[in-house]
Amino acid sequence: MKIACIGTGFVGVVTSAIFASHGHEVVGLDIDENKVKSLSNGEVPFFEPGLSELLKKTLADGHLTFTNSYKKAISNAEIIFIMVGTPSAADGQADLKYVFAAAESMAPYLKKEAVVVVKSTVPPGTSKEVAKIIKQKTKTSFTTASVPEFLREGSAVEDTLHPSRVVIGTTDKKTGEKLTQLHRPLSDKIIIMKPESAQMAKYASNTYLATRITFINQIADLCEKNGADVEEVVAGIGEDPRIGTHYWYPGFGYGGSCFPKDVSELAAYSRAVGESNNLMNKVHELNLARTPYLMEKMGQKIGGWKDKQVAVLGLSFKPNTDDTREAPSTAIIKYLQQQKANIFGFDPRAKWSGETTNFSQKKSLEEAVAHADVIIAVIEWPEIISFDFSKTKLNKPQFFIDGRNQFDPATIKNWNYIYLSIGRG
Ligand SMILES: NC(=O)c1ccc[n+]([C@@H]2O[C@H](COP(=O)([O-])OP(=O)(O)OC[C@H]3O[C@@H](n4cnc5c(N)ncnc54)[C@H](O)[C@@H]3O)[C@@H](O)[C@H]2O)c1
Repeated sequence: MKIACIGTGFVGVVTSAIFASHGHEVVGLDIDENKVKSLSNGEVPFFEPGLSELLKKTLADGHLTFTNSYKKAISNAEIIFIMVGTPSAADGQADLKYVFAAAESMAPYLKKEAVVVVKSTVPPGTSKEVAKIIKQKTKTSFTTASVPEFLREGSAVEDTLHPSRVVIGTTDKKTGEKLTQLHRPLSDKIIIMKPESAQMAKYASNTYLATRITFINQIADLCEKNGADVEEVVAGIGEDPRIGTHYWYPGFGYGGSCFPKDVSELAAYSRAVGESNNLMNKVHELNLARTPYLMEKMGQKIGGWKDKQVAVLGLSFKPNTDDTREAPSTAIIKYLQQQKANIFGFDPRAKWSGETTNFSQKKSLEEAVAHADVIIAVIEWPEIISFDFSKTKLNKPQFFIDGRNQFDPATIKNWNYIYLSIGRG
């Protein structure tokens, strides 16, 4: 099939490369000329396992090209995916200006019976708005659909090659069949529903996962009041098949480019439709307060942060990505800067691009912890959790904050650190 992918950011590059690897003729379109140039040269502007190889292969095969010309990308396309960003506006709702701009720009070049698919995360009703915008600019017949994206950064290639499900939001039978045909080689779990349901499913999915993280953080805080161990509590509840042992991450709260944005957008959407007393508001509020709350509590245990040498290990929002958007490290570093601590950051991939007052990023974990009074292991990068901290223990009292409960408390204590964790009594 001939496919156009509008927006070659994170989701756009992965989707383009995967469809091209299945033999489709794919054109990736972006308004950012530098991005188009580097992608055309086979360079991915971010780190994602397996993506660089896939991009190079599909470019070499001739199945994938990049452009900034709407005419070139759209004129022959049977299916057009809109995958531009949907940041939160000032009132918290999704800002759809990029989605609507893409709809307006593609309209004059639409091929007859093209299918315009919104893949960006958008509120219910957006496909109808997109159709309205296109209709103002063309008499060509077309249909719209919503196919939300569920990939996870860090395993995006694998997730797109083998999605747990493909949700197709359309009320048009032919459009549903065409999109099913496109996605069938990727998954046999294809669920067709109303566009509004597909759009709600995306927000509901991320909000549920974020709520799970917020929930276990609350339980962890209660464990600290009574000597219980949250990891034992997880073992105790997880065997219930309605709950499960997976996806429990007590820690500094959720981050990344999606969860914080999607929860706050759903909260704002709820308020806008008259449901202001909603769970999403509270989850968002608790997550924003999470890092300052923990840092203050830890600060009391270590005798204050002022002038402390602090190693912050793990700057990305999770392992296997260099994405630092809304990462817990950003809130931790901001807090430490306010408290006038000296901060030494380390991450196997991510580069710190925030405020650098009292902050320096070290090339190795050894350098970051070399003089540390406090080590904060924020993210469970394999390089961090497999590191032998006995080798770097200094001849002074040092605190070890296990921000994701990844270490064996007894081992860390045996190495003579003062061990602090999240809800482990
Ligand atoms: N990143 C993720 O892990 C992820 C996962 C699932 C869903 N999503 C959703 O997918 C959407 C895209 O996210 P992303 O992380 O890929 O965003 P991104 O910011 O990485 O990329 C967006 C791209 O769109 C381009 N763009 C903006 N306006 C354009 C226009 N009018 N025409 C052409 N290109 C344009 C930008 O230059 C940029 O390259 C968002 O709605 C996001 O919520 C993201």
